Amino acid sequence: MRPRELEKNIYWVGAVDWDRRLFDELIPLPDGTSYNAYLINGTEKTALIDTVDPTMADLLLDNLNELGVKDIDYVVANHAEQDHSGTLPQILKQYPNAKVVATPKCQNLLTNLLLISETKIMTVEDGETLSLGDKTLRFIHAPWVHWPETMLTYLREDKMLFPCDLFGSHLATSDLYATDEETVFEAAKRYYAEIMMPFRTVIQKNLEKIKNLQMEVIAPSHGPLHNRPEFILEAYRDWIYAPPRNIVVLPYISMHDSTKKMVEHLGSALVEKGITVKQFNLSKTDIGKLATALVDAATIVIGSPTVLAGPHPNVVYAVCLANALRPKLKFASVIGSYGWGGRTIEQIKGMVSNLKVELLEPVFIKGFPEKEDFKALDRLAGKISNKHKEHNLV
Ligand code: FEO
Repeated sequence: MRPRELEKNIYWVGAVDWDRRLFDELIPLPDGTSYNAYLINGTEKTALIDTVDPTMADLLLDNLNELGVKDIDYVVANHAEQDHSGTLPQILKQYPNAKVVATPKCQNLLTNLLLISETKIMTVEDGETLSLGDKTLRFIHAPWVHWPETMLTYLREDKMLFPCDLFGSHLATSDLYATDEETVFEAAKRYYAEIMMPFRTVIQKNLEKIKNLQMEVIAPSHGPLHNRPEFILEAYRDWIYAPPRNIVVLPYISMHDSTKKMVEHLGSALVEKGITVKQFNLSKTDIGKLATALVDAATIVIGSPTVLAGPHPNVVYAVCLANALRPKLKFASVIGSYGWGGRTIEQIKGMVSNLKVELLEPVFIKGFPEKEDFKALDRLAGKISNKHKEHNLV
C-alpha cells in the first residue's frame, strides 16, 4: 500500500500484511494484520511514529522514499515489540540523524532486543512535549498495554492519538478508517481478548489518563484507524467495565463421545434456562474465538476426558490460556469422564489460580453417562442459572 494522506503533512506510511496467519507463533490471525507507521512533517522537524515489522521494512522505506523524505529528526517508538520497532535499525541506517524517542523502559528494551546504541535514544517523561514547529507531540506513558514500556503519542494541533497496540485490530484491509464497524468490532474484540484483556485493570487507569483528551482520530498501529473515536472507546469501556453477561462458555474435548454427550446435555439444559451457550470443540476450534467468547462470559464449564491420569492436553492448553487471559468470569466448573481413575479435576482446579471464580460442583463420571449423570448435569445447569440470576446477569 502506498502512502496515504490523513491530514495535510500527516501520512500513513505503514504496511498491510495480508498473508500473516500467526503472531508470536501463538495468536491466530485469520484476517492478516497491518503495521501502521505515520509520518508527520512539521514546519521545523519531521517525525516518524513507530516503524513496521522487519519482514516488511522495504515497504516502509519505499513509502518514505516516495514522499521524498530526505531527513527524519525523530522516530517515536511507542512500544519495543518488534512488529513496531523491528525496522528501527534500517531507519537509523537510512536516516543517520534521526533520534529515537522512547520511555526510559523502552530505551532499555530497544538496546537489549535490537542492539540499538543508547546514545541514539532520547527518553521522554510522562506528559513531556516535543515541538516539530507548527505541530506538537505529547507523550503519555501508558505502561502495560501490553508491555511495561509502552506510551501513547498525542498530536495536539490535529487532535490525533497514536496509541500503538491499544485500540488496534489484527485486520488486513484496504480501508484506511473503520468504516465497516461490524467487521472492525469483531476484529478489535478478538484483539482485545488475546492481547489486552490480561491487563484490564491497568488499562482502566490508562483510559482515565486520556479521557479528557480531545480526539478526532485514533490511529493505532494495527488495523483501521478510528475517525469516530467514540466507537472504539465505547467498545473498550464495555469490555473492561461492564459486568459479565448471561453466557456460559463450554470448551471441551471428547475422545469416545462420553464427554461430548455430557457437554451437549448441559448445553441444552442451560439454553432451556435462557442462558447463551458458546461451545468449542478444542480439537477443531480457533483458539481466538474462544478467547473472544471469554470477554463477556460469566461462566466457564470445561469438558475433559481423562488421559494418562489427567486432563486431555488440548484442554490443558485452553485452560492455561483462559487463566492467562484473566477474563471477567465469575463461575467455573468441570465435567467429563474417566475410565479407571486419575486426577483430572484436581489438576484443572490447580490451573485456574488467576481466575477470581467460584468453583461449582463438578460432574465427573466413570464411562458413558447414564440417567443419574444427566440429572447431575441438570442440577449443575440449575445452579449456574441461579447464580446468574443472583448476580442479575443479562
Ligand atoms: Fe503490535 Fe505489542 O506489538
